[in-house]
Amino acid sequence: MKIGISGKGGVGKTSVASLLAQVIARNGNTVLAVDADPALNLGMSLGFPKEVYESITPIAEMKDLISERTETQPGIPAAFFKINPTVHDIPEKYWAEHKGVRLLVVGTFLVGGEGCACPENTLLKNLMRHLIVDRKETVILDMEAGLEHLGRGTTASMDALIVVVEPGQRSLALAHKIDGLASDIGVKKVLFVANKIRDKEDRKTILESLPEERMIGFIGYDEGLRDADISGTSVYDAASPASIQEIKQIKQNLEATPS
Ligand SMILES: Nc1ncnc2c1ncn2[C@@H]1O[C@H](COP(=O)(O)OP(=O)(O)OP(=O)(O)O)[C@@H](O)[C@H]1O
Ligand SMILES: [Mg+2]
Repeated sequence: MKIGISGKGGVGKTSVASLLAQVIARNGNTVLAVDADPALNLGMSLGFPKEVYESITPIAEMKDLISERTETQPGIPAAFFKINPTVHDIPEKYWAEHKGVRLLVVGTFLVGGEGCACPENTLLKNLMRHLIVDRKETVILDMEAGLEHLGRGTTASMDALIVVVEPGQRSLALAHKIDGLASDIGVKKVLFVANKIRDKEDRKTILESLPEERMIGFIGYDEGLRDADISGTSVYDAASPASIQEIKQIKQNLEATPS
């Protein structure tokens, strides 16, 4: 499975991505967790030792690697560069592994006037394509809201995009926007996970806005998950049994939904 995780800032993307990765790893399956979010805190949520996640440089910031692969000079603007750089060896070279989860910190695309036409974005685009199209293991991507920079072949190869929502109109409005954008760029399946649900009212708020048949889970408000962030520890160890149960159910629902 190749699963992207998106949603408004602070809804719980990183928590859900980590829990899902850890549940899959504890089932004995290989999982590659990809941090493609500007905040870069997937390693902490996955319970990697501090000295490990603090020493990781995102691929997006590896100037020498980017230059070498795109055949450009570091720091010198390039009019021409290789548009299909070799990337297949990058995951193995740069991932860190902890309790069965491999973590690859990709970082984020450069945005602005130049758009996508630069060596950095070209390397990242090819790397994301490789991760989603070619890898054999399960890949879970903690992403920012936008997917526009990924090519169509890449988005079409994603098994599902999970949009995490919390009971609140801003998060729900963005979920609708992501849903529309995702189908425009060829994502086959957009599913929703509600997070931080406190009561029936919260559930109702979500179901009034989103299609029930595409809701694959409701995670309750969990003090344990909140505390994991405060203390910087593994979300799997901190989550309540109810949250872990719900993540297992989400995993089953992912496997069960027809593509
Ligand atoms: N079910 C939950 N119950 C209580 N708190 C939660 C829950 N899920 C996540 N949180 C808390 O909400 C905050 C945001 O969670 P998280 O970092 O996973 O979100 P995010 O969407 O990845 O955020 P960002 O957009 O900053 O990357 C954290 O403090 C986290 O501990
Ligand atoms: Mg995050």
